[in-house]
Order: sequence, then structure tokens, then C-alpha cells
Amino acid sequence: MPDDSTADGSKAIAHPARAVRGVVRIPGDKSISHRYAMLAAIAEGTSRFQNFSAARDCVSTLDCMAKLGCEWKRLEDGTIEVHGVGPWLKAPSKVLDCGNSGSTMRMLSGILAGQPFSSELCGDESLSRRPMARIIKPLSEMGAKISSSEGGRPPLRIQGRPLKAIRYKPAVASAQVKSCVLFAGVFAEGETVVEEPIRTRDHGEIALRAFGAEVERIGNTSRILGGQRLRAIEAHVPGDLSSAAFFLCAAALFPGSQITLPGILMNPTRARLLDILVQMGLKVSVAHLEEHQGELVGTIEARGVAWMGGVISGADTAALIDEIPVLAAIAPYSVGGLEVRDGKELRVKESDRIATVATNLRKMGAEIEERPDGMKIPGGQRLHGAELDSFGDHRIAMAFAVAALRAEGETTIHGADAAGVSYPTFFDALRSVTSE
Ligand code: S3P
Repeated sequence: MPDDSTADGSKAIAHPARAVRGVVRIPGDKSISHRYAMLAAIAEGTSRFQNFSAARDCVSTLDCMAKLGCEWKRLEDGTIEVHGVGPWLKAPSKVLDCGNSGSTMRMLSGILAGQPFSSELCGDESLSRRPMARIIKPLSEMGAKISSSEGGRPPLRIQGRPLKAIRYKPAVASAQVKSCVLFAGVFAEGETVVEEPIRTRDHGEIALRAFGAEVERIGNTSRILGGQRLRAIEAHVPGDLSSAAFFLCAAALFPGSQITLPGILMNPTRARLLDILVQMGLKVSVAHLEEHQGELVGTIEARGVAWMGGVISGADTAALIDEIPVLAAIAPYSVGGLEVRDGKELRVKESDRIATVATNLRKMGAEIEERPDGMKIPGGQRLHGAELDSFGDHRIAMAFAVAALRAEGETTIHGADAAGVSYPTFFDALRSVTSE
């Protein structure tokens, strides 16, 4: 059972558990919350969001929007209220600090590219290492002037310009890039088209529609006509399936476990995770399906039986990119092990997630083969508790809190407060459903 052991919360101690049981209310989806906050700022009127993500990353987005002239506040019941200013934001007097959030930097750049002022975006040490050429290229083609550090790394300086629409085929499958280009498309003259190599999460398209824009999507191609006005909305943000994944994986570790997760995002571009978990041995059922602002929501019930493992490759790797750390962290306990292929993108996330997973698993005594674009982890292994590091990566901190539940002895996760980047109350929630 994980336990915050220091006052500053920078270290978590995790003990082995015997079972995982209970109900967890997962905070709102991070991907949707970012998009809602940005689009609410450039919409007309006041938007209100219940169950808005508690993630530090989403606070980074809201704070950037405030520096761009858009006021927001948290109401007593937790609702986030955003006072939209319409399409034209205010020139910021300070650098826009995106913290740890690649989503903030990449998607906000799309909006800034079409504004009549220049702005500068920076981030923490991890974000400063992440590739931005993937958004600089299309936004420059649309007419913005963008400069960056060497190799297309942050900080970014964006000179907004009147934009022209483009037809863009991103080289990497990235929903952040797609949203960035579509958001810029709102300000462009003509029809902007994004043709993806692999279909990625479509929250950008769905959110744009919720705010009143017409967006067409056929297959892997999305289009938006420039010059459309957005209108404020009221929405309830569905629970984040990527955060739910930690509890589903924890349940998978113990036959007899049972977990209920109400109000979780069921968007088909994210829910491939559930198919894979079922294939790997978890018993999953979904009830109470509803739709909120175009997003599907449901209650997940999961039971642990036997954890088999399997292979994740191709489009599945792209669809499960955020859940691979936890699937890999529990893979040694599976019957058949796990192989991850086509995952080069894992190397350019908040940490190099192939290297950081391998380092922590080896410290726990596991065997793992690290590959340039993936990993192979044999099953049937016994792990021991160890001193681990989050490497400043929220998903690594949480993945290894789950792996520690089946290890022998105590595990310490240094830098555990990184979890707050997406899920500040994660350790309390995990503690509430694990029994020693
Ligand atoms: C996200 C897309 C993914 C994902 C990230 C959130 C989004 O990143 O890893 O956590 O909200 O669009 P990429 O676009 O880099 O694949």
C-alpha cells in the first residue's frame, strides 16, 4: 500500500498488497480539459466545466490563458469558470510558462500563431528537451514566424500572423499536433486539412464542435474552415481513462480483485485500452453509457482473474502511448510477458519511457530487453521492492506504485510528487482500494 512518507510528498513508500477492491472517482480527463480551457478562452461568453482535470498540467494551461487576458476562477463546488474573450487574445506581458505540459505548449502554439502579437513559451527541464519541430513546421507553412532553441526545442518565440490554410500530413501520429493545426485553422483563411498516418484521439475535433465550430472528419482526415466563431459551453469532463488505467492494472494483478470506476471517458479513440486489457486477461464490463458534449462516458467494472500479457504494436501502440508505462511495469507478473513494438515516441515523452521503465524494473530485479522502439519483458518473474525514481515523470511514478503492489518488500519512489502533473490525489486513491 503506497504511503506518502515525507512532508513535502517527494517520496512515496509502497508496500505489497493482497487485493484491490472498491470504487474510485477519477478526476476529469486531462486531454479534454486542456482543449476546453483553450477553446473557452477564444469563445464568446462564460464557460463552466465540472470535474475539470485536477492535473498541474491543466493549471499551466489556465495560467497561460490568464496571461493572455482570459480570466478564470475555481468556484466553491470545484467548477472551473472561464470568461471567454473571443478570438483575439491580449498580448502577454510575460513569458507563457507551460511547466511540464507538452499539450499546453503544442496546442496553444496553434492559437498563438494566428494572434496579432508575439509571445514566448517556455517549460521545465523535461519540456525543454521535447521536440517542437512537429508543430513549428505546419505553423510556419501557415504563415507564423517561429523561432526555437537548437533542434526545435523550447523555448518558442511565436510571431503571430494572418494565417493561410494548409493541407498537412504529420510524419508522426500525434493528437497534439493535429489539434494544434486545427486550432490554427480557426484563424486561417480557407480550409485547413490534417491527414493523419494513424488515427489519434479526436478530442480536438469533438471540442471544436461542442464550441459551435463545424469540423468534418472522414477516416483519418479532419477539416476546418477558418473564421468560425466559438460560443461558450457548460460541460462535465469525463473521468480520465489514462488515470483509470493505473487502477485497472492494479486490479489485474490480483485474482479476485474488483474495482468500479464511474463516469470514465469511453471515447473509442482512447478505449482501445479496454480491449487490450480484456485480451490480456482482465474481466471488464461497461455500464451506464452516456454522451456529454460529444464524448462517450461510462462506468467501468473490472475483475482480476489471471494476467496473461501479450503484444502491443502498430496503431495500438499509438492508441495506448500513455498507458504503456503501467502495462510494462506490471508485465513481469504476467504469465506470458509483454512485447511493445513501434513505440519510438515513448522516448520523447515526459521522460524517455523505455529507458525509465527499464531502469526501474531492473532495480526491482526484473529482466527486460530494451529496444530502440520498444521493449520485451518476460513473464513469470518475481520482483522485489527497491529504491526507484519517478525521473520527474508522472506516469512513471504511478506505474511503479502499481508494480510495487506485487513485489516482495517495500518500494520507495523518489520524486513521487510528479504524479500531480496529471493526478494529484493518486496515492490517496490507490491507498483507499488496496489491502495489505
Ligand atoms: C495527448 C496526446 C498524446 C499523449 C498526451 C496527450 C493529447 O501525445 O501522449 O499525453 O491530449 O492530445 P502526442 O500527441 O505527442 O502523441
